[in-house]
Amino acid sequence: ERQEVRPYNRQRLLVVANRLPVSAVRRGEDSWSLEISAGGLVSALLGVKEFDARWIGWAGVNVPDEVGQKSLTKTLAEKRCIPVFLDEEIVHQYYNGYCNNILWPLFHYLGLPQEDRLATTRSFQSQFAAYKKANLMFADVVNEHYEEGDVVWCHDYHLMFLPKCLKEYNSKMKVGWFLHTPFPSSEIHRTLPSRSELLRSVLAADLVGIYSTYARHFVSACTRILGLEGTPEGVEDQGKLTRVAAFPIGIDSERFIRALEVPDVIQHMKELKERFAGRKVMLGVDRLDIIKGIPQKILAFEKFLEENASWRDKVVLLQIAVPTRTDVPEYQKLTSQVHEIVGRINGRFGTLTAAPIHHLDRSLDFYALCALYAVTDVALVTSLRDGMNLVSYEFVACQEAKKGVLILSEFAGAAQSLGAGAILVNPWNITEVAASIGQALNMSSEEREKRHRHNFHHVKTHTSQEWAETFVSELNDTVIEAQLRISK
Ligand code: G6P
Repeated sequence: ERQEVRPYNRQRLLVVANRLPVSAVRRGEDSWSLEISAGGLVSALLGVKEFDARWIGWAGVNVPDEVGQKSLTKTLAEKRCIPVFLDEEIVHQYYNGYCNNILWPLFHYLGLPQEDRLATTRSFQSQFAAYKKANLMFADVVNEHYEEGDVVWCHDYHLMFLPKCLKEYNSKMKVGWFLHTPFPSSEIHRTLPSRSELLRSVLAADLVGIYSTYARHFVSACTRILGLEGTPEGVEDQGKLTRVAAFPIGIDSERFIRALEVPDVIQHMKELKERFAGRKVMLGVDRLDIIKGIPQKILAFEKFLEENASWRDKVVLLQIAVPTRTDVPEYQKLTSQVHEIVGRINGRFGTLTAAPIHHLDRSLDFYALCALYAVTDVALVTSLRDGMNLVSYEFVACQEAKKGVLILSEFAGAAQSLGAGAILVNPWNITEVAASIGQALNMSSEEREKRHRHNFHHVKTHTSQEWAETFVSELNDTVIEAQLRISK
């Protein structure tokens, strides 16, 4: 029996991600304020509008009491969000532990934690158990809200166990899973103790979406580790095909372009220009994350100042570093390391009236961020490894007037789409990054214009809405094709 497929925009979409697009802060027993969550996943999904979508995820807060849970559920419902309540212990083991201390570094080619191998092995088991338990909690909430014909779209490395749980509840559910991070080469993935179980759980989905180079790694992990057959379509297991395909993500570029016409933003741009008059503005915007290459970027800037004395009072680096995963020890170490380097460089090259680096440990609101992007001369995105990196897209969207230069890591997914317009660098090579800063600051306006045109066109035409439409229609098609194969 075939399920009815409604056009995508009338079909209900259940978007399931660890983090909801809004995070809650408790103001009283039953009163809450909501803030937009940080990160590329949220930034892309906020641009997805033309769907009848519900969001299922964690609101980033511990709510142990029933009164609180009820009132938060009500507050979130106004935003079409449905909470999954995770207690402190689960957050510790599943989110801080398995997701962010194990999977995240591994998927970004930084390997498994090695400090104390025995302790890691022991905690690994309990963290994996918590990971599975948390995924089951997400599955329960999805199941409770699911209606026949809905499309269920699971996101990211937090929820690799979810497709299997959902299919066990209801084999007819249309389930897609999308990975926003890189997927490592099979030689790295095979070091993970739970390597096979995770792959098998993901393969329960009908469609797996991964950024282009990494789709190949995922399929080869399934063939080499699980012994399954890889086909041009995906992975086949005893006649059942899981389709694996690449879907490049984008942003809601119009939202950024329109923001630059808002009077407050124009006023803020004017203030920034006055504040930094006579100096070129270089900008970094990152979550304060171990994969973003922030220390390497700042060291490259130091090298540039060291070698180019004439630029010392003519350039400033603004580094917005949004705190993230602050309970994970690696992130705490990174924060102190970055502070230490920034302090040293400002001490070395600062004057009584000006510092070469302005480092902020916080996020900016959307309008302040747009103003900053628009007045920037050179943006530095130097991730050691990154799924796509949408900061590079946001910067380009705000540069129609200025046509600034993007220095971009060759290890960010965006290098494939914006590489022709950006200066591509190996972020580990500090000498090369320092040289690219000089190249960017001295670039002619014709060259900047040409590079910007290429990137701006890409960012305008590859939006998050288009990404989501392609994924959802491909998911519908995949399910229909599978049903046809079975009925043959
Ligand atoms: C990356 C991940 C997202 C995550 C975001 C923010 O973009 O791919 O899944 O939401 O980082 O990280 P956080 O741990 O704060 O949710």
